[in-house]
Amino acid sequence: MQQVMTYISENKERFLNELLDLLRIPSVSANPAHKDDMIRMAESVQDHLLKAGADKAEIYKTEGHPIVFGEKVVDPSAPTVLVYGHYDVQPPDPLDLWDSPPFEPVIKKTNIHPEGAIFARGSCDDKGQFFMHVKAFEALNATEKLSCNVKFLLEGEEEVGSDNLEEFCRTYADMLSCDVILISDTSIISNDVPSISTGLRGLSYVEVEVTGPNKDLHSGVYGGAVANPINVLARMIASLKDDKEHITIPGFYDKVQVLSEEERSAMNAAPFDLQEYKDELKVNDVLGEEGFTTIERTSIRPTLDVNGMWGGYTGEGAKTVLPSKAYAKISMRLVPDQDPDEITDLFIQHFEKIAPPSVKVKVTPHHGGKPAVTPTDSKEYEAASKAMEQTFGKVPIPVRGGGSIPIVALFEEVLNVKTVLMGFGLDSDDIHSPNEHYGVFNFYKGIETIPYFYHYYAGSKA
Ligand code: BES
Ligand code: MN
Ligand code: MN
Repeated sequence: MQQVMTYISENKERFLNELLDLLRIPSVSANPAHKDDMIRMAESVQDHLLKAGADKAEIYKTEGHPIVFGEKVVDPSAPTVLVYGHYDVQPPDPLDLWDSPPFEPVIKKTNIHPEGAIFARGSCDDKGQFFMHVKAFEALNATEKLSCNVKFLLEGEEEVGSDNLEEFCRTYADMLSCDVILISDTSIISNDVPSISTGLRGLSYVEVEVTGPNKDLHSGVYGGAVANPINVLARMIASLKDDKEHITIPGFYDKVQVLSEEERSAMNAAPFDLQEYKDELKVNDVLGEEGFTTIERTSIRPTLDVNGMWGGYTGEGAKTVLPSKAYAKISMRLVPDQDPDEITDLFIQHFEKIAPPSVKVKVTPHHGGKPAVTPTDSKEYEAASKAMEQTFGKVPIPVRGGGSIPIVALFEEVLNVKTVLMGFGLDSDDIHSPNEHYGVFNFYKGIETIPYFYHYYAGSKA
């Protein structure tokens, strides 16, 4: 392994510069204006895989954005690791809140990242993280130390629901066959407290439209007599949670797995400072479901949040209008064994039922995904744990996460393979937000840790 580490340290600067180039491509999957950038990004990923030593790397067109698949077989009897990541990024908006342009990466020091962090959209989620795998793979190939067969599956639609990946997995199940899936698209507790994610929440996402009168009305002439859809929607949304922050949709909690007291106390033993959490977010207090800690509220409990709400006049100054329509986008994060389709149905039934007769409602489901839990008593978990222990000097803590990567449950269903979530980001890296960043420390730490994963994983199978 010494040779691999030497190779990494001798090529560090180039690795970083190559990442900065990838970050300059605005691969925003949600915005059709970036279609060509997505293709450019996929070609660049393909090129990197080939240069890093892949036997082959192909671009697969889909109805949406392309999927890049590459592989290297070192020994048919060695275990096969499939690395999954996504090269698409979230839209950078609101642009005026960025301190530097989102696709012109800059490295700046911060309190949390005294060695510098790369500020750019996608730096942490997920370009900086999947690229660590490409560079670790390069280092292993260059030093002829690769002990596992490696497959890369890099998609361009994770941030918009991975619509075309399910079909791709079913069609190419043989090509994707592997012993384990390795993903770096999650966080660690902090740079001196390593952790491995052992769960992801699922997602049900809906858009609601509430219609009052058939056209906007004068709020003086009609106000007080005709339902205002924005007032009605606000009341409907408020009623979705009670004063204990418990979701009121009938049946919503029916399939929620209840953890034992031992499991709960183990998860609450992870280092967490509530005051620091509040200070960092500049809030005087937290708010969440009664009877659960902040750690639990963001991992083993489901939630419901309005992501956006609009309608009526939002321009400058005042316009006295009683609007015809009101809208909201609502997400529900789910936990095992909640099923996104069932939850969406429960939401629709309930939302239609609570609407007063003075309005009409329409609910449109968007993408969703199933929750996932990954085992901690497997060879792959052990390999990841040993690898992180090697490079951080501490045994990583298993932590259930709050975000979603819907493809993880699907991999298990379609390929019958488990996943290891060995991410290197920090929750404070502002992913999906203005000024997203990724620690230079984290980028290099990932590149150094990944070779040890292969090393220990191949050893465990021998
Ligand atoms: N990488 C994130 C998920 C994540 C972030 C997991 C941090 C754990 C810690 C991923 O790219 C993401 O943003 N997923 C979406 C879901 C998708 C269906 C749009 C999410 O969680 O909102
Ligand atoms: Mn991601
Ligand atoms: Mn994301």
